[in-house]
Amino acid sequence: MQTESNRVYSLCSQRISLRPWQESDAEALYKYAGDPIVGERAGWSPHKSVEESQEIIRTVFNNPTTWAIVLKESNEAIGAMGYMPDCPLNLPAREGEPLVGYWVGKPYWNQGICTEALRLMLDHIRKETDYTSLICSHFVDNPASGRVMEKCGFVPTGETAVDEDLYFGENRLMRVLRLELQTKTMNIRLEQPEDYREVENLTREAFWNVYAPGCVEHYVLNQYRNNPDFIPELDFVMEEDGKIIGHVMFSRAKIILDSPLSGELEGATFGPISIHPDYKRKGYGLKLLQYALESAKTIGIGVICMEGNIDFYKHAGFVVASTLGIHYHAEPKDAEVPYFLAQELIPGYLKGIEGTYHTPKGYYVAFENKEAFEAYEATFPKKEKAMHEGQLVDDCTKNPNEQ
Ligand SMILES: CC(C)(COP(=O)(O)OP(=O)(O)OC[C@H]1O[C@@H](n2cnc3c(N)ncnc32)[C@H](O)[C@@H]1OP(=O)(O)O)[C@@H](O)C(=O)NCCC(=O)NCCS
Repeated sequence: MQTESNRVYSLCSQRISLRPWQESDAEALYKYAGDPIVGERAGWSPHKSVEESQEIIRTVFNNPTTWAIVLKESNEAIGAMGYMPDCPLNLPAREGEPLVGYWVGKPYWNQGICTEALRLMLDHIRKETDYTSLICSHFVDNPASGRVMEKCGFVPTGETAVDEDLYFGENRLMRVLRLELQTKTMNIRLEQPEDYREVENLTREAFWNVYAPGCVEHYVLNQYRNNPDFIPELDFVMEEDGKIIGHVMFSRAKIILDSPLSGELEGATFGPISIHPDYKRKGYGLKLLQYALESAKTIGIGVICMEGNIDFYKHAGFVVASTLGIHYHAEPKDAEVPYFLAQELIPGYLKGIEGTYHTPKGYYVAFENKEAFEAYEATFPKKEKAMHEGQLVDDCTKNPNEQ
């Protein structure tokens, strides 16, 4: 099933809404579609009267995939946006590939309105249909339309076409563009203040009931951003098609050197690292971590230590830390600690060194101030806590190292 149901949708952004055409729009339609410059660029003849516009609303526009672009400010229909489930033009379309079309009244050109309207419709198509691609074309002498397509992700196919049935279509070359709907775009960028709450919620979703009934990692992150150990240059979110699906943060951390050396060696640790439950086990966590580790190298971090599962983290270059002479503060020095891992980012950084890594204090905030944690947790929608085999503790506000 690819086609849209007969359900009629209204779609909204800040400036505009897309809604079905109404007969009462006829005057506005005539006002804008009667201007020859509009139809000529799009390949249809200018409307000649309000009555003709009304007839077009009753017939051509009367379907669930054609919308009026309505300016919210004035509540006036100023253009049209839509797609035809089977491409009716002479284009190199795939079987059953819909054709996108649009226009905007001339007084409203070059204000980003068509781009905003097309984005709204594309979001809707992604959510409500199974189409795998869309086709679009514009006359080569009408580059503004091609620009709208490209701004919304359409890519030129390299083909051109001519359709003589179009108004002024004879010998007039069209450029063909396509949008692949199944190709996801993945992006990693620095976290911004406006992402904070969404990312904390993502962290809560990712950790909930995993290492304990409930979790505290979202609170750790919330508090860490004000901690001097926090490394803002390594605070990344991962997005798929603009939606945040992952996050990682890093903290400065210290290795206390063993005698005969003395002093501390600067390093870092990371976590929480979160991938939304719907996206786990697809390789996203590793990609995000690899990207962050490369960035850590570029800002001169020499070593990363962390607690984690070697079977996973070995893929990002980690080894059991004792093999590099680094011990874990909560275990005897001679113990082999399989979950305590490290990685040199600067080759030779640990050469000739033995020392003990201390988990930065910032990771203990929820254990040290349970009331503050509970007050913070209460600001999220309630979620059921559950016990599972394999959890480290039976209460998320207990420090696993103090069991
Ligand atoms: C094509 C049309 C729908 C664009 O609507 P719009 O609301 O002005 O579009 P936007 O403002 O969202 O984007 C227009 C883009 O084209 C660019 N543009 C405008 N004139 C241009 C030109 N001559 N050459 C190259 N780019 C041009 C604008 O700068 C803008 O890009 P930017 O945001 O990168 O600066 C409108 O011009 C129109 O209705 N034209 C007549 C009907 C038509 O051509 N329909 C499409 C048929 S395929």
